[in-house]
Amino acid sequence: MWPNSSPFSIHLFLSFFFFFLFVCSFHGITGHNIVHETCKKCAQNDPNISHNFCVTSLQADAKSQCANLGELGMISMKLTRENVTKTRSYIKDLLKKKKLDPFMRACLHDCFDLYSDAVPTLKQAMKDYKAKQYEDANIGVSSVVDACTTCEDGFKENQGAVSPLTKRNYDAFQLSVISLSIINMLK
Ligand SMILES: *[C@@H]1O[C@H](CO)[C@@H](O)[C@H](O)[C@H]1NC(C)=O
Ligand SMILES: *[C@@H]1O[C@H](CO)[C@@H](O)[C@H](O)[C@H]1NC(C)=O
Repeated sequence: MWPNSSPFSIHLFLSFFFFFLFVCSFHGITGHNIVHETCKKCAQNDPNISHNFCVTSLQADAKSQCANLGELGMISMKLTRENVTKTRSYIKDLLKKKKLDPFMRACLHDCFDLYSDAVPTLKQAMKDYKAKQYEDANIGVSSVVDACTTCEDGFKENQGAVSPLTKRNYDAFQLSVISLSIINMLK
């Protein structure tokens, strides 16, 4: 290896190598801590928030590794928006089935409307958030929290019915409550 290089340049190379190794792991630890610490605070402030769910979801975005609280809030709102958008499409597909009992169809229709409203509401809430209009962002995200619970509660009105959306409603609920909790920390 490098027969012509002096011990000095090898030394320099090794110094840089370990320097970058140090910086990377340092960043990793910081990101790890901020996600854990933020989720811990979220769970303390709101009993509806699962610490594990929070950590797993936020860590799924690689950017959370180097994020500050403000950026973490944006990440969580983005995750919420993606989640809600996918659930809306999922409900749309369920509604294409010909054989659906009228109660189930009515519930799914209500959920579809709720999720359809939630998508632009979140988009606006993200704009408000970027503009540091936390009060407005809070109102928007709160209505998304309500949409998830209203959708799930609809199925409970008929004892024979089983919601096909329980997990998706729960996921969207968790993500929006986490976003709300971070927004309220910044307010
Ligand atoms: C959390 O759950 C409680 C009931 O356990 C409820 O009263 C409260 O409104 C919920 N908070 C949010 C943000 O949904
Ligand atoms: C919604 O988010 C949760 C948590 O990040 C994830 O586990 C789930 O797969 C997402 N659902 C969809 C439909 O993307």
